[in-house]
Amino acid sequence: MPSSFYVTTPIYYVNARPHLGHAYTTIAADVVNRFNKMRKAETYFLTGTDEHGDKIVDAAERENTTPRVYVDRISKLFRDLWPELGISNDDFIRTTDKKHIQIVEKILQDIYDAGDIYFSEYEGLYCFGCERFYTEKELVDGKCPDHQTAPERIRESNYFFRMSKYQDWLVEHINRYPDVIRPERYRNEVLSFLKEPLEDLCISRPKSRLKWGITLPFDNNYVTYVWFDALVNYVSALDYPDGKKFIKFWPSVQHIVAKDILKPHGIYWPTMLKAAGIEMYQHLNVHGYWNVDESKMSKSLGNVVEPLSLKNKYGLDAFRYFLMRDMVFGLDSNFSEDALVNRINSDLANDLGNLFSRVLAMVHKYFKGCVPQIDPTIDDSFSVSLEKDAAEAVTEFEICMDKFAFHRAIAAVWELISKMNKYVDITAPWELAKKKSGIRELEAVIYNLLEGLRVISGLIYPVMPDTARTMQKHLGNDPGVPFYELDYLRKWRIIRPGTVLPKTVTLFPRIDVKKEKTTDHDDDQKIQTRLKMKPEISMEEFAKVDLRVATITAAETIPRAKKLLKLEVDIGETRTIVAGISGSYSPEELIGKQVIIVANLKPAKLMGVLSNGMVLAAVDEKECTVAGMDKVVKPGTPLS
Ligand code: MSP
Repeated sequence: MPSSFYVTTPIYYVNARPHLGHAYTTIAADVVNRFNKMRKAETYFLTGTDEHGDKIVDAAERENTTPRVYVDRISKLFRDLWPELGISNDDFIRTTDKKHIQIVEKILQDIYDAGDIYFSEYEGLYCFGCERFYTEKELVDGKCPDHQTAPERIRESNYFFRMSKYQDWLVEHINRYPDVIRPERYRNEVLSFLKEPLEDLCISRPKSRLKWGITLPFDNNYVTYVWFDALVNYVSALDYPDGKKFIKFWPSVQHIVAKDILKPHGIYWPTMLKAAGIEMYQHLNVHGYWNVDESKMSKSLGNVVEPLSLKNKYGLDAFRYFLMRDMVFGLDSNFSEDALVNRINSDLANDLGNLFSRVLAMVHKYFKGCVPQIDPTIDDSFSVSLEKDAAEAVTEFEICMDKFAFHRAIAAVWELISKMNKYVDITAPWELAKKKSGIRELEAVIYNLLEGLRVISGLIYPVMPDTARTMQKHLGNDPGVPFYELDYLRKWRIIRPGTVLPKTVTLFPRIDVKKEKTTDHDDDQKIQTRLKMKPEISMEEFAKVDLRVATITAAETIPRAKKLLKLEVDIGETRTIVAGISGSYSPEELIGKQVIIVANLKPAKLMGVLSNGMVLAAVDEKECTVAGMDKVVKPGTPLS
């Protein structure tokens, strides 16, 4: 059992807003982090953003802004999203942090001094999307397998890391520690890359081509590029080389990534560590992709799923549960809202929710809300089975979580839930309650069920921390007790008889499938009736509306106006507009965004501010989403 535990996610590029894929990795890291708290390990959880490189410069240019302003804005979107998703990270690193830059410089200098970085000319096939060179063999039909675009041939003088020198060592290490890269399929993939001679890694870009990076400490004309910068975050966050955190946590590091970045993490990073004299990481845990309609979710394919809107619609714990239960860690999974609703209705509302409210309702019905005491003289051999089932669930859960087999760990808990539901049916407490002689058995049955629920509430804690706490509250637990610790879950007869329990609650309301279904298959007529459309207008009437593309240049809240934001927008001239979107957007995240406005609406004063136009937005009961353009457009461009 580890005494310290360190988990990392990839640091995400800030060239796109966070989506379901990022949310999955970060929630998975949160789940293992919480699981290690269950084992009483001292834990450290790192996530962050990767902010240098061509892509960032391009994205900033598209927004007519500087890389600095741009990275600050997008990095904040990630940082602000994590608390919304219940993420308990201890640190959030940015590759533009001063401390990180200094440590990258130190490692580069150390490896350079040791002779493992050299200068040379190189010509190769470069994919701008992946920000790396490809060998002919790696291409599929001459294209990058990830971006499906042909790479460009580039010739340049650059610095190279002598990666080839460490090839034999790496093969040996992986063979000696077979689960260092897991699941097995990814270890095999790395070993199969390593069957071919490893080329040295190009680690720089001339400043003439790219300035937005970390300058090489030994050559002022070059910046380090992508992986030598990004991968180092895992040790720079711990204050490598002599920080207390580094000494304590590095030996227990667990990296989590998806298969897209297997090669940098399975090959570049280990060889970099070896060259820098840093101990090899403990495990690299690799998961598959969340796909939508069988394609990887990505901004360029336009099929991204927004984690926040799913959380808002279905609740945080249900969302986290679905992600962890539905994906087999290591394999791809196809995302569908139907599957999410099914899981909520069957696993959460039916299995867990019903068991919980059924048992608590019986405590109130038969014992006036008071936890019953088991008579010591009673033969309760029938309840021993439940204690055994719970202990088995805890053991299985621990084994599976330790291997990152989240879906199996959860299945073990649901097996216990199913056994408990059967236990209720078999022992039939309502029959026992009818006979006077049944009362002692009834006390034992209900007490054991409460204990089973206590164990379940602890086991679901890493995945559904809020629900776990709600259950605990209703089981009368002392809030100061670390109810989720495994040692505590292995015990039985913990709940104090006589404790008065609060009335039951619905943990997960059932989702009305009909109501939530989309309108995809409805015919036009039905949609028209249901949408209560406004009366028809002529083309001339519509042409009177002056719709323009506007770039938001400033945004601030209006004192005492809950929903309103005061915006300055650029439409070729500067306008002030008051928009009722404050509940759904923070002022910071709006800056730089392009929206569509009605430019010729009669000015109106709102909360003392003269609004000169109106921002278009889609509004439903929960939130509003501003209308925008598919690509960046010159501010002021009219829409027709
Ligand atoms: N910046 C690099 C990582 C550097 S780490 C030293 C990078 N960033 S990224 O923004 O592209 O993030 C990639 C990671 O995001 C994946 O490895 C995975 O963790 C997550 N995912 C992005 N899309 C995903 C899916 N469609 N499905 C599952 N995870 C996904 O690569």
